Order: sequence, then structure tokens, then C-alpha cells
Amino acid sequence: MADRPKFYITTPIYYPSGNMHIGHTYTTVAADTMTRFKKMLGYDTFFLTGTDEHGQKIERKAEAAGVTPQQFVDKIVAETKDLWKLMNIEYDDFIRTTDERHVKIVQKIFRQFYDQGDIYKSEYEGQYCAECEAFWTPSQLKEGNLCPDCGRPCETAHEESYFFRMSKYQDWLIDYIQTHPDFIQPSFRANETLGFLRKKLSDLCISRPKSRLSWGIELPFDPDYVCYVWFDALINYISGVGFHRNQEEFEHWWPASYHLIGKDILTTHSVYWPTMLKAIGLPMPRTIFAHGWWLTGNTKMSKSLGNVVNPMDMVERYGVDAFRYFLLSEMSPGNDANFTEEAFVARYNSDLANDLGNLLSRVLKMTLRSGGVIQPPAELTADEAELNAEVDKAVKAMESCLLAMKFDQGLAAVMNAVRAGNRYMEKTAPWSLAKEGELARLNTVLYTAADALRRVAVLLAPVMPSKMADLGAALGYNRNDFAALKISDLKTKKSDLAGRTVQDCDALFPRIQFEAAKEAAAKPAKQDKAAKAAKPAKAAAPAGVVNLIDIADFAKVQLRTAKVIEASRVEGADRLLRLRIESGGEERQIVSGIARWYTPESLAGKSIVIVANLRPAKIRGIESAGMLLAAKEGDTLRLVTTDGEIASGAEVG
Ligand code: MSP
Repeated sequence: MADRPKFYITTPIYYPSGNMHIGHTYTTVAADTMTRFKKMLGYDTFFLTGTDEHGQKIERKAEAAGVTPQQFVDKIVAETKDLWKLMNIEYDDFIRTTDERHVKIVQKIFRQFYDQGDIYKSEYEGQYCAECEAFWTPSQLKEGNLCPDCGRPCETAHEESYFFRMSKYQDWLIDYIQTHPDFIQPSFRANETLGFLRKKLSDLCISRPKSRLSWGIELPFDPDYVCYVWFDALINYISGVGFHRNQEEFEHWWPASYHLIGKDILTTHSVYWPTMLKAIGLPMPRTIFAHGWWLTGNTKMSKSLGNVVNPMDMVERYGVDAFRYFLLSEMSPGNDANFTEEAFVARYNSDLANDLGNLLSRVLKMTLRSGGVIQPPAELTADEAELNAEVDKAVKAMESCLLAMKFDQGLAAVMNAVRAGNRYMEKTAPWSLAKEGELARLNTVLYTAADALRRVAVLLAPVMPSKMADLGAALGYNRNDFAALKISDLKTKKSDLAGRTVQDCDALFPRIQFEAAKEAAAKPAKQDKAAKAAKPAKAAAPAGVVNLIDIADFAKVQLRTAKVIEASRVEGADRLLRLRIESGGEERQIVSGIARWYTPESLAGKSIVIVANLRPAKIRGIESAGMLLAAKEGDTLRLVTTDGEIASGAEVG
């Protein structure tokens, strides 16, 4: 293990403020594929992902949901892990910023910076929205000085804060970027960072007063403050591999080989993080790679815009491997890509069902017709040499492209080899050779085509691990032996294919009739064969609906009508109200983040709907038993009530 080259890759740690969508899934699939490929090149690998759980956004979401921030994130983290399992993501560790192993390291680094004079206290001046209790930077403000969240005017305000002396490292950073061309990739992103560094860098405000935000890591030398969420989050890349906890492990993995990120978090990674590492005294990661965005229409797919595509729906309809293939082949990683289901189906049908599926079914059919065992080749001709050369090209291209994160180009080269395989079959016409009894030539052709398929399947295995193991099994391999093949096995002239007995398999990638699939998804009773093959197993979600649940899941939630007896404000928490309610003769207390929309007086006597069986939680130290339902759109919130009088405690559903 000690002699093997090392490869440590990270994804951003995602905000568990809502469920992950295709954007997050793309980065995680890319990191997983890269890790699998590096393993096949003989590397010792480590793949870290996780969640970024502190900060105001999460605190507010939890408040609105009537649960504690910890309860809120625990639920989404569990769902995120389920999604990664479904996507066949094999991470080595999942770091959460609420893990004690992380919190301690953040505090240690804070202490180190403070002791070495890299942190000082000063006054922060900025545009403050009193309603949202938030400071905004000039670029975040709307129309001059309006709050981007609630649209109210902001005012200049001051706040005592701690600052990191980031400006001290500006010249060093510029020089480092200029002398390390691989440090920020693609190279135009390095230029973007250098452009940003042309202005004088300010010091970074890295604390938030607890009076404004309590959901964060407490500063080790001042309990009135918590750490700024980005300062906390970036440290995951070292706390996740043992910094200050397991020095041997840490030194084995650090510096990271790749921080894979989206373009919107370039500055935090290419300016904040390197200067923080420099101040800690650690070497820089080798490459920070910023990919583009997945768009719907021409807009960034985003949780807050609500225009997301749920990866689970795509997997349910078309299978995980095809979806992984689409994500990596459709996006050219420096640029944005538009997501449409039509584009997915078009690529699936042309690359997987047509090209790859055809080659496999031809090889299997012909071999089965000739006894089912792959025979050694006889004399090789120029046609074999041509096909082998195409596959050699694909091996080379896949290696060089994947190492540069150019998944789309690597996969395109592999598909070229597949198409060359189909041309080879058409030209050599094994069906005619069989008819004419030219057995030696037939054996050569079937062997050569099967070997091209074998090599292609090994190249595609990091992208489609499960389907390519099926393909290996069809060629007579044990699935595990096939999965253990290395890239070096593709470069030798020897192959252990001859003598293997092929297995017939169902179409690996059945063709999707998109219109039929859409129709059948809408009317499950009338599924036709083609639509079934496309696996529209359940009715499609209505447009804009994500995370479908079954009726059994819904039945777990007990919704009841209730009457508000009285309501009062919660001291020190401007957004919260404490409600005393009665439901079916039983009284209880619910804390809810609705103070911006309802005064306590307006609530008394109101009929509302509550989630009656939500586990009680403490919000700002006050017990809350249940949650009330409200509808929210933009800045408007309205409580859900019944259409006319009905007794409190009535079941809703
Ligand atoms: N928590 C921070 C990252 C901290 S890393 C130390 C964060 N989280 S995030 O959940 O908002 O975004 C995580 C990643 O998802 C980012 O790299 C972001 O670019 C990516 N994506 C979010 N929406 C995206 C698309 N529509 N398309 C592609 N990736 C996008 O930022």
C-alpha cells in the first residue's frame, strides 16, 4: 500500500437545506467515477463527501419547519446518504460539520490563528436588514439597497467581529496561482481568480454574534460568537482525513489531489481556502476543478428556485447506470449544460441502446449460434488491426481525458470504438461466414468483436459499474473478476477471453419509446411492452413535484384540526411565536417561525391544521409538540385552515 501512488478527491460538502438535485448528483458521480478509474490505474484512493450543516439558512429552515436545526439536518443527511447509495456512490467517508471530530479541529485552527496574530477583533460595517437579521454585500443587494430576501431597505450597521488577515497572503497567492498552472482548472477559472485578486483583498470576517445566529461552532476564545459557515466548511477537507486527530492518516492523504466544485464556489475555494491553508502552514491541494451548472431552460437548477429535477425520479424511470452515463457524457465540465429528459432519451437510445446494445447482441447471438464458447482467433487481417487500433485509441483517450476531468470526451472516444465494432461486424459479416462454413475466419471475427466489447466494458465500468459487470458476465466472466480488471490489462496484447462461455442476457439497454414511456407513465394500466422496457414503473410525477412518497409514507403523518387558545412572542427570537393550542380536548404548545406574518393577537381563536405526531423538540430551549401547516410563496405566508367550521381534533387527510 505504501508504494502505490495516492489519490484524494473531495466533493463540496452540500447544504442539507433541502434534498439534493442533479447539480449535486453530477459532482458526486464525477468524483465517484474518477475514484473508480484511479483504482483501476492502481492508485490508493480516498473519496470524501459530506454536508455543511451550520449557518443561518439551516437555522431558519428548521425554525419554519418547527424542528431543531439538528433534527432538520439529520433527516436530510439520511436522505442524502440514501440517494448516494442509490447512485452507487462509493465514498470512503462522509463528513458532517456537526461531527465532533470536525468541530474540534475548527476550534483548534481558530485558536492557532488567534495565537499567531492572524485573527483580530474589529468593527464590521455593512448593509443590514433588520427584518431578516442579515448583512448583505453590495453585490447581493437588489435595486440599490434592498434586501435580496424580503425586499425591505437595508441600513448601514456596525457589528464587532473577528477578522482573518487574508489580505496578508494576497501577493503570495497571486504568485502561487501564476506559478502552478494546474492549481485552478479549467485555466480560464484561474484567470477569473487572478482578476478577482487585482483588487485589494480585504480581511475576512469570520465570526457571527450569537445574538444573531446560534447554530454554528462556538469560537474557542469568545463564547458570544460562532464561526462563519464558510470558514467552518472548508476545514472539512482536512478534518475529514485526520488533521490533528490521526496525523499518520492525514500525512498519507494530504494534500488533496482534487477539490471538485461548481463554478459558484470558486472564490471561496481559490482565495479563502488557500490563504487559510497557508496560515495553518499546510501545502496546497494539487487541483481545484470548477465545473459549470446544470440548467433548466436557461436558468441554474437550484433548490431555492424550485426548478430542480429529482435524481431519484430519473433513476426510477431509466436506471442508475444510464443516468450516470448521461450526466458525464452530456456535460463538458468547464461549461453549463441544459437538462431535458428528451436529451437523456436521445443519448440513451443512440449510444447505449443502439451502438453498445447492438454490438453486444450481435456478438452474443452469433457466438451462441456457433456453440456458445469464444474460440481463439486464427489469422489476423487489416480489419482486425483497424478495430484494435480504434479500441487502443479509446483506452488512451479515456485515460488522458478522465485525468483532466473531460468525461464527455473520454466517453465519446469509447463510443467511437463501439461504432467501429459495429462497422467491423457489418464488413466482416459473421452471419455469412457461418453460412458458408468459414469457421476459422468466423472464430477470428467473433473473438475480435468480443474482445473489443470486453475492453470497452472495462473502460465504461467506472461510469456504469453494474451494467458493465452484467456485460462482463455475458462474456463469461465472474462479475467480481471482471470488476477487478485494471487499465493495464487493456494494454497488453494478451486476453483471457478464448474458452469462455457466453451467456445470453436480456437487452442491456432496452430502447426507450419516449412518447410511449411518457404516456404509459401517465396511465400505468395501459403500459405497452416498449414502455415497460423503459421502466416507467410508476405514474410520472406531476410537473414540478419531486420526492414522490407512497400512500404508506403519507399514512404515517397524523394531520389534525386544532384551535389556537393564545399566542405570545418568544423573547430574543423575533421570528418565533409560542402557541397554546387545543386539539380534540388535548392542550399542547407549539413554537413556530410565523412572527413575521401573524401577530399573537390575530391568532387567538383561529382554526388551524397541525402535524399531531411530530416528535417533540426544543426550539430555542422551548418545548414544541407538533407543527402547524402554512403555505408560503415568496415573502407571503398563510396558515392552512379548514373550509368552514369543524370540531378541533378532526382528522385531516
Ligand atoms: N456548502 C457549500 C459548499 C461548501 S464546500 C466546503 C455549498 N453547498 S451547496 O449545496 O449550495 O452547493 C454545493 C455544490 O453544488 C456546489 O459546487 C454548487 O456549484 C453545486 N451545484 C448547485 N447547483 C448546481 C447546478 N444547478 N449545477 C451544477 N452544480 C450546482 O455551496
